[in-house]
Amino acid sequence: MSYIEIRNIFKIFGSDPKTALEMAKGGADKDEILAKAGHTVGLHDVSLSIEQGETFVVMGLSGSGKSTLIRHLNRLIDPTAGHVMFGGEDILAMDIPTLNAFRRKRLGMVFQRFGLLPHRNVMDNVAYGLEIQGVDRKTRQASASKWIERVGLAGYESKFPDQLSGGMQQRVGLARALATDPEVLLMDEAFSALDPLIRSDMQDELMKLQAELHKTIVFITHDLDEALKLGDRIAILKDGKLVQVGRPEEIILHPADAYVKAFTRDVNRGRVLRARSIMQPTDQSPPHSDALCTVNEDDRLEDILPIALSTSSPIIVKNTANGIVGLIDKHRIIEIIAPQSN
Ligand SMILES: Nc1ncnc2c1ncn2[C@@H]1O[C@H](COP(=O)(O)OP(=O)(O)O)[C@@H](O)[C@H]1O
Ligand SMILES: [Mg+2]
Repeated sequence: MSYIEIRNIFKIFGSDPKTALEMAKGGADKDEILAKAGHTVGLHDVSLSIEQGETFVVMGLSGSGKSTLIRHLNRLIDPTAGHVMFGGEDILAMDIPTLNAFRRKRLGMVFQRFGLLPHRNVMDNVAYGLEIQGVDRKTRQASASKWIERVGLAGYESKFPDQLSGGMQQRVGLARALATDPEVLLMDEAFSALDPLIRSDMQDELMKLQAELHKTIVFITHDLDEALKLGDRIAILKDGKLVQVGRPEEIILHPADAYVKAFTRDVNRGRVLRARSIMQPTDQSPPHSDALCTVNEDDRLEDILPIALSTSSPIIVKNTANGIVGLIDKHRIIEIIAPQSN
């Protein structure tokens, strides 16, 4: 069993969800249920397994059910049908005190609009979660200081949120979420309100932190580039249904349907795809291999392309132990980077 298990979740909004649920189970889609029953399908039979330590991105257009899904993880909403398990524990079975303790100790949340307390300075915002847990002032300030420094805000401890830029406020949001050392970070469009360059910095910052912390991160975005950059795996939602779950490279190379394909059309494939995902696997070097070019299996296609253009021979792909793992034909790279539109 995975760390987080979401099993056959349906969420119907409206006064008589049970009737609409039967329609959904019978195969009716979101539009039909809205037209015939006046109910909104938030999620339609969604099942997902999220592993401990992975950055799991949920992507989809506005209204596809992303926020509804993440709100099931902290039980801000209960499903119409289905189950949510954390570490084998059914969170729907938790009573209110257990649920509150679960949220405080095991979850950290980062919101799109930062959600900082306006009358508290940076230090007291970051220390807030620990304060609620009853941690003494000295200990919580020591911990908050550590996290403020980690997100690059040392020196700003006594500033108030309205004295900070959006990017800095979200750094405070991130530090606050991390200060309680949660197992899981829930981030709903956390970077979507930021300017592009600041946003890109925050993505880099999150990846840097995650490389050390190995939290389980559930990150919501409507932006495919952000999803591809951050996600170990990506789930794509459409009209409350799960359309595809996969690693970034799988999503790009094997889109599940026309909807996903349309999403991936404008992606910089050379930046996302790596040698490993397009090579012809083999452990044999071709004859006269001394003269051939070699790349690492983790190298990105955009970095391999100049090498490919300089040779007419296949390129050897090696792993970090210097063993041959595959070959790449240069035409294959060009074909992948610039696919024929259809
Ligand atoms: N509290 C609610 N009451 C009624 N409908 C809702 C509620 N919350 C969400 N919805 C509907 O559920 C669908 C999914 O919404 P949401 O999860 O917010 O989408 P996203 O976060 O992907 O933009 C939308 O059609 C939305 O209108
Ligand atoms: Mg949303």
